[in-house]
Amino acid sequence: MPDHLPRPLTIRDLAAAKQERRRLSMVTAYDWTSGRLVDAAGVDCVLVGDSVAMVVAGRPTTVSATLDQMVYHGEIVARAVERAVVIVDLPFPLQHLGVRTAIEAAARLLKETGCQVIKLEGTAGQREVIAGLVAAGIPVMGHVGLRPQAVHQLGGYRVQRDRDQLLADALAAAEAGACGVVLECIPAAIAAEITATVPIPTIGIGAGPDCDGQVLVLHDLVGLTLDKVPCFVRPYADLKGTLGEAVAAWRRDVETRQFPSAAETPA
Ligand code: KIV
Repeated sequence: MPDHLPRPLTIRDLAAAKQERRRLSMVTAYDWTSGRLVDAAGVDCVLVGDSVAMVVAGRPTTVSATLDQMVYHGEIVARAVERAVVIVDLPFPLQHLGVRTAIEAAARLLKETGCQVIKLEGTAGQREVIAGLVAAGIPVMGHVGLRPQAVHQLGGYRVQRDRDQLLADALAAAEAGACGVVLECIPAAIAAEITATVPIPTIGIGAGPDCDGQVLVLHDLVGLTLDKVPCFVRPYADLKGTLGEAVAAWRRDVETRQFPSAAETPA
């Protein structure tokens, strides 16, 4: 590929970014249009998160997401994205059912979606599973801190503050061969310590400014959140308002026979 064209990124670029102290950007996408748009905006990673269960399907948690659903959305997004690293979530509870089950599920994600990396939520208890996946040639991103799949066990969406546990969880992911780790909802000082300790990129969400990168759910980033906006979100647009106004304006024009005009009517 000629040098002047944007080269597809790989996990080597994520590792290089940490070495070069270049901040990484990661955002979710669940469909072809948003995959195309966020890739064109130049993000490093596009995450097909199991947040699809909440954002797209309106479920109260991510627990209901299935492997079939992740394959469906992952394939659409991976086909849309040309440059960014595409990461697909391993849905609950596949990382807890042993190395073989995790490899079968992750291989299906890799083969049927075309993504490059799978992300799994876990503590140090998932070290063996991550190592098994990496040994099978499957790049893995860890996810520690607030693990939404464990929301019932954690007693809600709460900041996780056990410094020793968080450090052990992130270190286990790195030692097992993960190519990065998401740090969700942990105090900034702990996230900074983890980032300085582990050799792999940390991608924060609600974890302060000192992570190697940041991730947001696309709908939060563009102001499409219907429920309460988490405090760690900065909406960069008001698409909820824009969309509502556009549809209401169109509805009024339909009702008053202003739409369609002659020019909008095929001859
Ligand atoms: O599923 C998801 O969208 C995620 C991000 C919040 C990191 O895991």
